[in-house]
Amino acid sequence: MADFKCEAIAFGTPEGTYPGMFSPPLIKLLKSLIGQDKTLHLFSGSSTIGHTRIDLEHEAATHNIDVIDFLKKDDNIWDWVILDPPYEGSESLYKDMNYAKPCPIGQDQKLRSFITKWFNDHAINILWFDWCAPIWSGVKREKVWLVLPGGYRKVRALSHLKNIYLRSNGVRGLANYV
Ligand SMILES: C[S@@+](CC[C@H](N)C(=O)[O-])C[C@H]1O[C@@H](n2cnc3c(N)ncnc32)[C@H](O)[C@@H]1O
Repeated sequence: MADFKCEAIAFGTPEGTYPGMFSPPLIKLLKSLIGQDKTLHLFSGSSTIGHTRIDLEHEAATHNIDVIDFLKKDDNIWDWVILDPPYEGSESLYKDMNYAKPCPIGQDQKLRSFITKWFNDHAINILWFDWCAPIWSGVKREKVWLVLPGGYRKVRALSHLKNIYLRSNGVRGLANYV
């Protein structure tokens, strides 16, 4: 028996033309979880959720910068970090979808290792939307929403991961990365 909550929700229909954008049910859910808390949104695309939004190219972002370059310089402790990263490393897929640069965390061990260590030091809660439901040492799964797009499209998961060690008073782990 899993020691985390699990729910299935319908993805619904996104209201807009930007590829991969969040749908209204997902936007409502994310907003209800973060409330007014200090929130960093990585790979934010066309979304306006979160105080600080990082995307290479989208005008809705507060910073048009590579996520990794941003994280290397950012020293905040965030109540929530939301991320909806590109899912696949296929150049042709990203060309079709007009994304500036593939950055599939699930398929890139070095990137994954950097991001998860950064999360251990800087994120109290993580909301990760992906084709996988990642988990690593330092975080606990609170809840997973299976997000069902219908038709024959791939099911995605929204994982709520909670940092086991980091407190909002800024006490950090000792992870060290170059
Ligand atoms: C799946 S989309 C996110 C869509 C978003 N959820 C929305 O509602 O519009 C992934 C986004 O990541 C951005 N991206 C890809 N690689 C990036 C990188 N290395 N640094 C920053 N943004 C990146 C792309 O420009 C794209 O907007």
